[in-house]
Amino acid sequence: MKILVTGGAGYIGSHTVLLLLTNGFEVVVLDNLMNASIESIRRVEHLTGKKVSFIKGDIQDKTALTSLFNEHAIDAVIHFAALKAVGESSTIPLEYYQNNVHGTLCLLEVMANLNINHFIFSSSATVYGGENAVPYEESMPLGEASSPYGASKVMIERVLKDLAQSNLDFRAVCLRYFNPIGAHESGQIGEDPKGIPNNLLPYVAQVAVGKRERLQVFGDDYSTQDGTCERDYLHVMDLAEGHVAAVNWLQKNSEFTGVEAFNLGTGKAVSVLSIIKAFEQASQQKVPYTIAPRRHGDLPAFWANAEKANKQLGWRATRDLTQMMTDTWRWQSNNPEGYPK
Ligand code: NAD
Ligand code: WQD
Repeated sequence: MKILVTGGAGYIGSHTVLLLLTNGFEVVVLDNLMNASIESIRRVEHLTGKKVSFIKGDIQDKTALTSLFNEHAIDAVIHFAALKAVGESSTIPLEYYQNNVHGTLCLLEVMANLNINHFIFSSSATVYGGENAVPYEESMPLGEASSPYGASKVMIERVLKDLAQSNLDFRAVCLRYFNPIGAHESGQIGEDPKGIPNNLLPYVAQVAVGKRERLQVFGDDYSTQDGTCERDYLHVMDLAEGHVAAVNWLQKNSEFTGVEAFNLGTGKAVSVLSIIKAFEQASQQKVPYTIAPRRHGDLPAFWANAEKANKQLGWRATRDLTQMMTDTWRWQSNNPEGYPK
């Protein structure tokens, strides 16, 4: 099978491409490199001994998409390409809707023209909003997105539903990721954020490696066990395995029509302070921190009910917190500046 991976040079994309290759899939990557380095793809090729067909291009470029699909007989598309910084999305909402929503519409339109009907979408726990009770389950109504980024995911899930209703051949999976962290166990590929990291783990890792002075813990007065926010952190390689499971599921269940959503998480919530402690243990480095005010928009605690993915996809997260921390540290200490610029 040949898979098109949009955004395949990015953090989750590169780990998924690696696993697709080791599972015998052929992979074509389309990435405009706006938030990635081609070095991730080179390293994936080196680690697997396999070749990736890489095309530098934008999902909004329908001409480029059409020639890509004409050149490669694509069986399924895994769609990672998106802008993903929650805070930034409130500052430049139009760019987020343009890139994420319009970009996805372009991709779906070209796929429809060429009768390519298998689609796996990078959705997010953020689609549950703040209204639903935890743990989140797929049967819950989607919430009120708290950012343009979140809204772009909710909108695309709706588009996929409408498209599947209009075309019974179109079959899609929405994978709702919780908080992906960690890196491939080789320490050769990992998360390489541009500028100041928005997410917790990259920040912690950069403090540990001496690139930043101290972490700010956003709030310790939440109604959680230790007062800091709790999240469902999962290893990026477990997440990558979830994508392989989804491709196989679409392939096997040929009678399935429509869109199916799956939570990909561990089902466990871990606090910010527990993350710091676990990281210090795994890395044997100190992570100095100060308690800072709450970050606007943060929810106290959320985690997944991941039973549906287990039952239907046969998927479960198997890597524990120690491994998430050890692998993050291996990547960060081997590549203190990320990929060579
Ligand atoms: P990332 O930024 O590392 O990867 C996204 C990739 O898409 C980058 O390589 C970027 O260059 C590329 N890209 C962006 N816009 C493009 C366009 N118009 N055309 C072509 N390429 C484009 O982010 P990631 O963390 O790997 O996230 C991948 C997907 O998973 C995103 O859709 C994101 O919203 C979603 N997601 C991420 C998280 C997370 O915490 N990392 C959680 C939930 C969902
Ligand atoms: C985790 C916890 C922070 C940084 C976001 C998106 C979500 C998904 C994953 C894409 C929170 C705290 C963080 C720091 C801190 N992405 N924190 N100091 O906010 O759960 O989820 O990324 O879909 O949609 O909203 O992840 O890593 O930013 O934060 O104390 O410097 O760490 O307050 O409690 P979040 P995160």
